[in-house]
Amino acid sequence: MAVLWIVVVAILIIHTAPVATKEYYWEVEYMFGMPDCIEGPILAINGTFPGPTIHAVAGETIVIHLTNKLTTEGLVIHWHGIRQLGTPWADGAAGVTQCPISPGETFTYKFTVDKPGTHFYHGHFGMQRSAGLYGSMIIDVAEGQKERLRYDGEFNLLLSDWWHESILSQEIGLSSRPMRWIGEAQSILINGRGQFNCSLAAQVSNISLPMCTFKENDQCAPQKLNVEPNKTYRIRLASTTALASLNLAVQGHKLVVVEADGNYITPFTTDDIDIYSGESYSVLLTTDQDPSQNYWISVGVRGRKPKTPPALTILNYVIAPASKLPSSPPPVTPLWNDFNRSKIFSKKIYAAMGTPSPPLKFRKRLILLNTQNKLDGFTKWSINNVSLTVPGTPYLGSVKYKLKNAFNWKSPPRNYPMDYDIMNPPPFPNTTQGNGIFIFPFNVTVDVIIQNANALDANASEIHPWHLHGHDFWVLGYGEGKFRSGIDEKSYNLRNPPLRNTVALFPYGWTALRFVTDNPGVWFFHCHIEPHLHMGMGLVFAEGLKRIGYIPDEALGCGLTKHFLMNRNRH
Ligand code: C2O
Ligand code: CU
Repeated sequence: MAVLWIVVVAILIIHTAPVATKEYYWEVEYMFGMPDCIEGPILAINGTFPGPTIHAVAGETIVIHLTNKLTTEGLVIHWHGIRQLGTPWADGAAGVTQCPISPGETFTYKFTVDKPGTHFYHGHFGMQRSAGLYGSMIIDVAEGQKERLRYDGEFNLLLSDWWHESILSQEIGLSSRPMRWIGEAQSILINGRGQFNCSLAAQVSNISLPMCTFKENDQCAPQKLNVEPNKTYRIRLASTTALASLNLAVQGHKLVVVEADGNYITPFTTDDIDIYSGESYSVLLTTDQDPSQNYWISVGVRGRKPKTPPALTILNYVIAPASKLPSSPPPVTPLWNDFNRSKIFSKKIYAAMGTPSPPLKFRKRLILLNTQNKLDGFTKWSINNVSLTVPGTPYLGSVKYKLKNAFNWKSPPRNYPMDYDIMNPPPFPNTTQGNGIFIFPFNVTVDVIIQNANALDANASEIHPWHLHGHDFWVLGYGEGKFRSGIDEKSYNLRNPPLRNTVALFPYGWTALRFVTDNPGVWFFHCHIEPHLHMGMGLVFAEGLKRIGYIPDEALGCGLTKHFLMNRNRH
């Protein structure tokens, strides 16, 4: 009997032990800032840009009270890389998991960060991410557990690209007939800092830019990384670019890649690292070079014709004066269109030992053709000839409350016509718009093959980094040309494919990924290039509908769910 009581008391203690919580009060508003030394409007959180870094340990609960201080725009924030196990309503995707927060209102996000990793957060309504609504989110190993990576210190570099044209004007341009493209970024930012039309390396490079004249304390002055000799540092990298694919190199130093999208990978050594929008990495760097010198850290654009100069900062050995610039030019970003090099890099990424392997077979499969199309003279991106328009009622509420008229319940096409020629512009470029979603049963294995093709112009096919909310997926493989059903599956890596939440789709090729529908909810799957998503390049997956649990009414106060809740609460 006594033993039983001890057991009961022990269970009670375990159950009532307080879960560590990190609580934040954030207000979002527009401010003037000069991220690249040129003044313009930016979206700031509590007056800072980028937003505050969330620092937590695995297992903690994060609570964010987010107040919309914008006067004319809605607002949401998505926690990129956090799977939201059991809290699909906190995913922060406008129209998918919640209504945009109205001006003046506060919405509270609450979710658990279940595992360590390098992540970030960003706006997910309209193109607010492009306006600077982002920040870092670093999750360390749980209290009392040991980090498997060894390092003496760490840095965190959040990478982004920056335009001088306002997002309002960008959005109008993209939605105009004919479409007005936003062009390439004016600057690349490292932790929200860049230098427009000048170069720190002007003296030593042959780029025709003048020397920068900012002062040490200016908002655009780069943050230097101060290091001691003969130590190992973890550099956390994440890219929240609107458009640019990036490449980072540290002069004279090797990088050992150890983490990708919050998952440990088999370490490999590289001189430089490709990073696509939506991806995050950790690299280890050992300070084994001449400590009387400083070294360039360079972040340049790849995958598109480079019209944006690289962002630069300095790796400063504390023995050398911080103001001492390296005497040789910064590392040169690898050729923008050497896609082979990009593929070789992506294929070097394997899961670390101990990572769960994928199920060997799929139950459901989607083959998704990515095309650029026309709709009444407007330019769109489509998946299997449907360009996504997110409805006014958030899907999560519509599926939970079975609202028949909230969206088109008929599934979009799961494949595309066999004879489609991916190497040429679409012969019939007209597309359709739609808001249908893919609904999967609970706990089945789903394969998604994303298939690239030629865009509207001849000889044009670009990189699309695809990102899935609510899951990590296994990257089973990449291939050239059209995916051949029944043949290409043989090339899959089923042994140690990396778990990720974002993966690149290369020009004229395909990428295969696999996940298990074990997280009841509704999850966005889209190209992480902001203007592409704006032009319809996305899909929505729903899974385990009967198991979707609690959703706070505050998340659903718009569209048909608003009426539904009003009627329900009246009775
Ligand atoms: Cu970081 Cu839906 O995106
Ligand atoms: Cu894209």
